[in-house]
This record gives sequence, structure tokens and C-alpha cells, in this order.
Amino acid sequence: MSAATEGGATASLADPVVTIEDFSVDYLGAMTAHAVRNINLTLGRGEILGLAGESGCGKSTLAYGITRLLRPPALITSGRASFHPREGGTVDLSTLRGKQLRAFRWDKISMVFQGAMNSLNPVINIQAQLEDIFITHRPRMSRRDRVRTSGDLLERVGVERSRLKSFPHELSGGMRQRVMIAMAMALGPQVMIMDEPTTALDVVVQREILDEVTRLRAELGFAVLFITHDLPLLLEISDRIAVMKAGEIVELGAARNLYTAPRNDYTKRLLASFPSLTGERGDFIRTGVADIRLTETDQEKV
Ligand SMILES: Nc1ncnc2c1ncn2[C@@H]1O[C@H](COP(=O)(O)OP(=O)(O)OP(=O)(O)O)[C@@H](O)[C@H]1O
Ligand SMILES: [Mg+2]
Repeated sequence: MSAATEGGATASLADPVVTIEDFSVDYLGAMTAHAVRNINLTLGRGEILGLAGESGCGKSTLAYGITRLLRPPALITSGRASFHPREGGTVDLSTLRGKQLRAFRWDKISMVFQGAMNSLNPVINIQAQLEDIFITHRPRMSRRDRVRTSGDLLERVGVERSRLKSFPHELSGGMRQRVMIAMAMALGPQVMIMDEPTTALDVVVQREILDEVTRLRAELGFAVLFITHDLPLLLEISDRIAVMKAGEIVELGAARNLYTAPRNDYTKRLLASFPSLTGERGDFIRTGVADIRLTETDQEKV
């Protein structure tokens, strides 16, 4: 969240990787819920965009909607989400079907969901699960390359290569979640959507994984839509933050601005609900990153 990052966030908007326009989702039923309402949002290439908001405000519905993972009774009632590949052109995500959509999901846009660690197959070792991605999506890759790349991926997320031979139950929750992140990165996607990817983990492990994600983002240049109700965490890792309430984006801005000069009442309440941000020790965000220290005037505004 240095000045450079803020500048970067602005610059990246001129080069969007995902645009969401007028996007709405209902859950049909006796009491139809308008879970996502006319959302407009742009994810810049290489940007970390945080999406915050209380439980039930529609964050996951939006993520599932973009990636076309919604099932009835959910219905997209308006708008669209488009992907703008690095290679040029625009893909309207609503037009993808079947095999095309599955291929697209891992290759271009990948996802890590809360509790994803429990979706590893318990009877297959980590190597086979990583290799599977390459067998499906990179059929010409040699076995040797698959094994080497799978090991490289594990090391990238801070898991020893020797763990390739482990089965999921032999790994800790944090390790399994890292394996899921490794899988999501396997094909070098341009976008990663992470919905509460570390919420189930203790803070130390969570911190390690987030450091890894931000480091890899810098190295590999993918964009991240990072969803969590943990606003302090978002303030640390995001370039920009969107605050969602009852299906709508109520405020969107550079992370630093959102913290120092929130405009929306709900954002102010959300910030105030984290004593670590607004209490006595709230003059800097958890890590104490020097450049987001506040002046007294700033603090009055919070
Ligand atoms: N399958 C479903 N059928 C009916 N309503 C649903 C369904 N799934 C979600 N909803 C409703 O849609 C709204 C948005 O839910 P969603 O899961 O997107 O919220 P969220 O912001 O991700 O919350 P959390 O932080 O708890 O994960 C909620 O009001 C929820 O009750
Ligand atoms: Mg959710």
C-alpha cells in the first residue's frame, strides 16, 4: 500500500483482467433473495482486490457467479462478467459451456474456497492430484516434467517436495490449504479468486500463506479477488478494497484511502468493529507497515 502500489492500482484499471457489469443474482423461492444487486467491479491485471462485508452480504454468490459455479435456485438475473486475457480479446464468461468452461476455470481463472483443503481426494497422494491437473490440461507434458513441476509448485507455497508422496490425512490443515493454492496456481492462471482461503487456519499459518500469496503475485503477476470478512487482513494485502452490503458495493477505493478516509457509514462501522484498527493501538495496521501510519487528523476521521 505504498504510494507506488496506489499508483499501480490506478494504472492497472486502465488494463482490466476481469470486468463485472450490472451483475445480479437471485435465489429463487417463496422468498426470493436478491443476493447480488447490479454490481459493477473491475479487477486490474496483477491487482489484489479485496472484497469485504458481513456474513450473508453476497460475497460468495458473486464469486460463484463470476466463475459460473452457481446452481439452482440461484439465477443470474442481469449483467455479465468478462475476462480480458493477456493475449488480447475479451471472453464473455456467460458464453462458456461444458468442457470449454472446465478448461477455462483452471487455466485462466482459478479458485480457492474456504474449506477447500477438505476437497482433496483422501485416497490419492498429493503428487497424483497435482499431476492430474497436467494430465488433463497439458496432455503433451512428459511424466518427468509433471513430477518436477508438481514438486516446484509445492515448494513455491512453502511445502517440502518430499510431501508429494503424502496422502491428505498426513498433512496439517495449513499444508492442505497450501496444496490447494498450489493447485490453483498450477497452470499459471491470470486470475485467482480466493474466498476465505485461510479463515479456518490459525493466525500464524494464515500470515505465512498470505505472505506467500502476495510474494507470488509479485513474481507471477496474477490478479487476485480476495474475499473475507476480515477487514484488517484485507487492508494489509489489498491494493483496493470493495465493501459490500446487502448485495451491493457501498464503497470502493485504494486500501489506504478506505482506512484513512472512509466515506460510507457502513465502512466506518465495519472499521470500528475491529478495535485493533481504531483503538489505542490503531495507529498502524497489524503488521505496523510504516507507510500506513496515520496522522492524528486522519485518526479523527476514522
Ligand atoms: N442456496 C441458497 N438458497 C437460498 N439463498 C441462499 C443460498 N445461498 C445463499 N443464499 C442467500 O444469499 C445471500 C448471500 O449469501 P452468500 O453466501 O453469498 O454470502 P457471503 O457474503 O458469502 O457470506 P459469508 O461471509 O457468511 O460467507 C444470503 O442472504 C444467503 O442467505
Ligand atoms: Mg461466503
